[in-house]
Amino acid sequence: MKLQQKSTESQNSSAGNNEHSNNLKPFITSDKIQSRVKELARSISSDYAGKIPIFIGVLNGSFIFISDLVREVSIDVEIDFLKLSSYGDSKISSGEVKLLKDLNCQIDGRDIIIVEDIIDSGLSIKYIRDLVLTNNPSSLEFCTLLMKKGLSNLTFDIKYTGFEIDNKFVVGYGLDYAQKYRNLKEICILDP
Ligand code: IMP
Ligand code: MG
Repeated sequence: MKLQQKSTESQNSSAGNNEHSNNLKPFITSDKIQSRVKELARSISSDYAGKIPIFIGVLNGSFIFISDLVREVSIDVEIDFLKLSSYGDSKISSGEVKLLKDLNCQIDGRDIIIVEDIIDSGLSIKYIRDLVLTNNPSSLEFCTLLMKKGLSNLTFDIKYTGFEIDNKFVVGYGLDYAQKYRNLKEICILDP
């Protein structure tokens, strides 16, 4: 498999110095991701026909997903980003969310779609929801590529979900561990 070859090759390269390089297990192929992204884009295009929603990507993890998603939608959209404190170099949430980069756009009266890479504890998405709602959007929905099953006892709906996954730490397609692996085309499970 491509990824196993890559991690074997990387043993002999400077990129292979990371202790986790050999612990990547292919999980969701690039083809599966791309066809699911197209389905999500079709649903959003039909739900927002005649409107110009603002897609708000949550940095850094959603940068690849939102890029692919907006190129598949068939309606006009606007795009902005916000950045929250990350997991740092840990695989477990610090339990605290901080805003590192605020929005530039006006939310008031607009249709907002928050685009996330993954929902785990749900803390980040709850924080974003509160933040956006104080600015009186006309509507607010969420689109996440991945949702960890049963972890996020959310009190509101996530309208667009790419894949529900078990409670494993995953990397690739924008998702990182200690800032690495974001550039993988596939999503992989990172073994402990
Ligand atoms: P939450 O606040 O616990 O829902 O976590 C959301 C953020 O944590 C995501 O936007 C990711 O950046 C990061 N995160 C959560 N789970 C994973 C994972 O399995 N791999 C990589 N990043 C993750
Ligand atoms: Mg992250």
